[in-house]
Amino acid sequence: MTEWNATLYDRQHDFVAEYGKGLLTFVPQRPKQAILDLGCGTGTLTAQLNSLGDDVKGTDRSPAMIAQARRSYPTIQFEVEDGLQMTDVNRWDVIFSNAVFHWIQDHPRLLRRIYQALRPGGQLICEFGAAGNIATIENGFREAIAAYGGTYHSKFNFATVAQLTQQAQVAGLVVEKCYDFERPTPLKAGEQGLANWARQFFASELASFSPVEQDEILARLATRVRDELWDGHQWVADYRRIRCVARKD
Ligand SMILES: C[S@@+](CC[C@H](N)C(=O)[O-])C[C@H]1O[C@@H](n2cnc3c(N)ncnc32)[C@H](O)[C@@H]1O
Repeated sequence: MTEWNATLYDRQHDFVAEYGKGLLTFVPQRPKQAILDLGCGTGTLTAQLNSLGDDVKGTDRSPAMIAQARRSYPTIQFEVEDGLQMTDVNRWDVIFSNAVFHWIQDHPRLLRRIYQALRPGGQLICEFGAAGNIATIENGFREAIAAYGGTYHSKFNFATVAQLTQQAQVAGLVVEKCYDFERPTPLKAGEQGLANWARQFFASELASFSPVEQDEILARLATRVRDELWDGHQWVADYRRIRCVARKD
């Protein structure tokens, strides 16, 4: 399981939540509604959701992320919970989730839990990595780590529109919107941006190498993908996203 570095996430990867703000526009404007931010991370979007409902909670399976969220937003409810273990029944008007589903292998089970947790008329509003997301970075990393005797198997579950639509329907949800799109994403910190990103997202693969080897692997990754992802000023990650709004009738 990925151990999140909540401080690095807030400092270097705040673009994840920044882009997630677009997803907030799908949340209905109602003075009274119960909203769950599933996989809330450090709580940046939960804080925005807090003004859209009167009963708002953020949950995440990472204790480090929840601790950071509580420090940043002490008046908001946060709880350590794995979405796959959620036991809520008819509890939420909106289940919001940004950049989380691709970390979860069992989408059918997650969608069943979400269906159970939504009130009738409630909506799932989610966005995450679509099929093909970061393909250039993953291929480059696979090659770079192989040069040092390592292996890389993608741990991500990037879905297609057809898969997600079908799985949501099987779980009982009515899919209102489901589409994917390219989102080239500039990484902060100039030349260091790609290595910083890789240290967060490939932390478990890098952990078995010495610090010097890690630097060499990341340098090799940068060389391998530079033509495609360096725009002359910054690294631009090859993100593709999928968005879905689905309702429980
Ligand atoms: C890229 S972060 C996104 C955080 C936040 N939603 C945002 O937009 O900034 C992904 C988060 O998903 C959480 N996560 C992954 N699998 C989960 C699961 N099964 N249940 C709950 N949270 C999960 C991780 O711990 C992490 O905090």
